[in-house]
Amino acid sequence: MSNEVIQEIEELRTIFEKEAEGIQSPQQLRDVRDKYLSRKKGIITGLMAKLRHIPDEYKAEFGKEVNLLKVAVDQKLKTVEDSLQSQGIRKPDFSLPEFSIPVGRPHLISFVRTQIENIFVQMGYKIVYGYEVESEYNNFDALNIPEHHPARDEQDTFFIKGHPEKVLRTHTSPVQIRYMKKNAPPVKIISPGKVFRKDEPDATHTPVFHQIEGLLIARDISFSHLKGTLEVFLRSFFGGNLNVRFRPGYFPFTEPSAEVDVSCFLCFGNDPGCKICKGTGWLEILGSGMVHPRVLENCGIDSEEFSGFAFGMGIERIAMLKYGISDIRMFYENDLRFINQFG
Ligand code: PHE
Repeated sequence: MSNEVIQEIEELRTIFEKEAEGIQSPQQLRDVRDKYLSRKKGIITGLMAKLRHIPDEYKAEFGKEVNLLKVAVDQKLKTVEDSLQSQGIRKPDFSLPEFSIPVGRPHLISFVRTQIENIFVQMGYKIVYGYEVESEYNNFDALNIPEHHPARDEQDTFFIKGHPEKVLRTHTSPVQIRYMKKNAPPVKIISPGKVFRKDEPDATHTPVFHQIEGLLIARDISFSHLKGTLEVFLRSFFGGNLNVRFRPGYFPFTEPSAEVDVSCFLCFGNDPGCKICKGTGWLEILGSGMVHPRVLENCGIDSEEFSGFAFGMGIERIAMLKYGISDIRMFYENDLRFINQFG
């Protein structure tokens, strides 16, 4: 009896080993485990149940053998499960479609704005923001732009329906008015942001664009401070070997006023057919001047005691020159082939 039973158990073990070796999937693993160990129909469970019918003298031996088999089956199935799991991790399925995570980047306008901000922040300027909807007073009157000035014409400025005194700011200068009204000199700020003008879109105009303006007010500030500041800025931004030229200009809020040019960084004035400077050797970059005493007085600053300079530039224009972009509308078309080239 004893030998027979033990042989039976050994045969069972051999069959099981073979089956276990053939397991290739979690489903097969479950099937084999059920076949041997399931509580109701498992073969080993069945053997345990037989124990009652075994004559007493063989009970202990039989029980021990069945138990050894059970432990061996358990262990084997555990090993198979582990190896299935680690195979699953180690074997990537190359037939799956790739998924790539697109990496974002700053838009060229933000990128250039940050470059400009960084240069001025290094010179000790503070960045100040304002409102895109402004009072006519802050946008025009306080800046010495009189009622009859063409900029105030409906043709040039967006007015807000139902709010006769409000406009979409045409420049970021009203940020400086707000700041000067609240803060006594010294004032040393730049104000970046969106501005709005009723222009028909073409290669160099859009009704919304971006500006950065700067303002410095303190004692004994002269035109040479303005020149030095803008030379440092323009050489850091465009390149150290550039020349900077100041031409007389006109703005209602500065006196004297100057248009500022840099020498052409593409041809240095040597190519009469140059794409960027059209052979003139100079690129018009920004407007500037000494803040008009009336503007200071409008903000409660004593123009006998304090003086200062201001300047303003269009971010799109500067970006177009630096990066050779021929049409301003490309900034707003959201074409990734354009956007992904920068930033
Ligand atoms: N506010 C001017 C504009 O938008 C730019 C400017 C600022 C010019 C400061 C001179 C001085 O056109």
